[in-house]
Amino acid sequence: MKMTGIAAEPQLAFLPWNTPLESWPDDVVVALPRGISRHIVRFVRIEGVVYAIKEVELELAEREYRLLTDLHRRDVPAVEPVAVVSDRVDASGEPLPAALITRHLQYSLPYRALFSSTLRAETAERLLDALAVLLVQLHLTGFSWNDCSLSNTLFRRDAGAFAAYLVDAETGELHATLTDGQREYDLETAATNVAGELMDLQAGERLQGDLDPIVIGVSLRTRYDSLWREITGHIEFTRDDRYPLEARIRRLNDLGFDFAELQVVTADDGDRMIVQPKVVDAGHHSRRLIRLTGLDVEENQARRLLNDLDSYRVKIGLGPEDEEIAAHQWVSERFERAMAEVPADLRSRMEPAEIFHEILEHRWFMSERAGHSVPFIDAVHSYVENVLVSKPDERSVIGSRSGDIDDATAELRIVVPPDAD
Ligand SMILES: Nc1ncnc2c1ncn2[C@@H]1O[C@H](COP(=O)(O)OP(=O)(O)O)[C@@H](O)[C@H]1O
Ligand SMILES: [Mg+2]
Repeated sequence: MKMTGIAAEPQLAFLPWNTPLESWPDDVVVALPRGISRHIVRFVRIEGVVYAIKEVELELAEREYRLLTDLHRRDVPAVEPVAVVSDRVDASGEPLPAALITRHLQYSLPYRALFSSTLRAETAERLLDALAVLLVQLHLTGFSWNDCSLSNTLFRRDAGAFAAYLVDAETGELHATLTDGQREYDLETAATNVAGELMDLQAGERLQGDLDPIVIGVSLRTRYDSLWREITGHIEFTRDDRYPLEARIRRLNDLGFDFAELQVVTADDGDRMIVQPKVVDAGHHSRRLIRLTGLDVEENQARRLLNDLDSYRVKIGLGPEDEEIAAHQWVSERFERAMAEVPADLRSRMEPAEIFHEILEHRWFMSERAGHSVPFIDAVHSYVENVLVSKPDERSVIGSRSGDIDDATAELRIVVPPDAD
């Protein structure tokens, strides 16, 4: 066999490539939830890293590998490609299909694993919001998916909402920019696929009774359209009233988007300004958080964490110019301290940033009930004792055997900021 890709884990070469993926032994594969797919997909774990392996014809594997590499370079939320395996033969010398290896996206779930019995309206809304954001991001970078669906997407929890990642790029195409027609086609496919997937849920009585699959499918378009307009449409304002511009920037920042460049043109009458946002990319808050603390988390989580960091800074009497010093203290005094209070056996229940977000929510409810601000550490203890213990054990979803996923703290991707000591 031949393996082509990034110089990843050499042990990947020692997997049983001369056996069809379907019959790889239980001691090799890790049982993790998978979405519905045409091809066979299995997960393996090597040195603590989980990989997804998809058995697929060589041409498709290579094509998908290239596309995922391009998307990864452009920082679009998608799974990360690792290698293509080709020239496989079985014990009797018969050829076997090629395989695409990607890194398993930590803490991600296929949509059907996000709810236990039925998909409720509120969850469906959050799923579609996340999917619309992903589609806009892909389209901005010139990628037409051509097979956007819930099954081809992975979801991660993001401070009560979801963040969507592309998992299946097989049918995609990358262009310099997309025409309206290309975007239109992509949206139509997406709406049809989503409606079909919801009808399947409905047929299995897994969709909340009064929800209409077609209406929800179409709502993906509406969400997408308003976001697209907000991002690419021009804004007009006068010299004296810059509110429309500020309001737009704020709304987009809240959605996690960022203006990379603003082109300001003075209108003919000389009084009005027209701003055409040039390049827009996502991740405003998560970039700020990673710069300040090294914590690499989802966008909404980052916004919550930054709010807490800002109020912490004020509490310890530091001004905005001392934001980096405050961030340093905040990581050890708040974030790490809270995580240290979570008993080891409860740590893998959720991602640390999501636990922290829930602690903040919990503190807020406690303070409301008490009529005064409750000390942070009391909220941590109360959250662990009253909320976290009774959470469904996500380990059964995240990994089938105990120990499949290491200590949750080990999952934290901490990068030391460049200017830290
Ligand atoms: N890198 C990955 N991380 C997590 N899950 C993955 C990964 N790659 C594939 N999967 C799971 O496998 C399923 C099928 O993958 P997909 O690429 O859509 O296959 P197909 O081309 O057959 O449709 C996905 O829905 C997802 O649940
Ligand atoms: Mg698929």
